[in-house]
Amino acid sequence: MTTLTILPDGLKTEVPEGTNLLQALLAAGAKLASKCGGEAKCGACHVFVTEGRKGVSRMGPAENARLDSIVGIGSKSRLACQATLLGTEPVTVELLGALSG
Ligand code: FES
Repeated sequence: MTTLTILPDGLKTEVPEGTNLLQALLAAGAKLASKCGGEAKCGACHVFVTEGRKGVSRMGPAENARLDSIVGIGSKSRLACQATLLGTEPVTVELLGALSG
């Protein structure tokens, strides 16, 4: 299990390793859209991983390409649907609201 902290609310939840980040966020009650069904196409699940980036799976080419087309991305940007929680360290994610998509 690993601790997932969700900002800006500061909600903490325990998540089994191997859990998809988008699924973990939705299960915790986060208001996050998934318009493409988790296929790295809509960008609506864009979040910032502010801490514990090594606790999240590496970015693949589809995610990288999609993020390149989103306004407001930064070095901490991830598509939650493409990220898996590895369980190696606690992870903190910041939801972006209006910046998403
Ligand atoms: S849900 Fe569409 S890109 Fe993640």
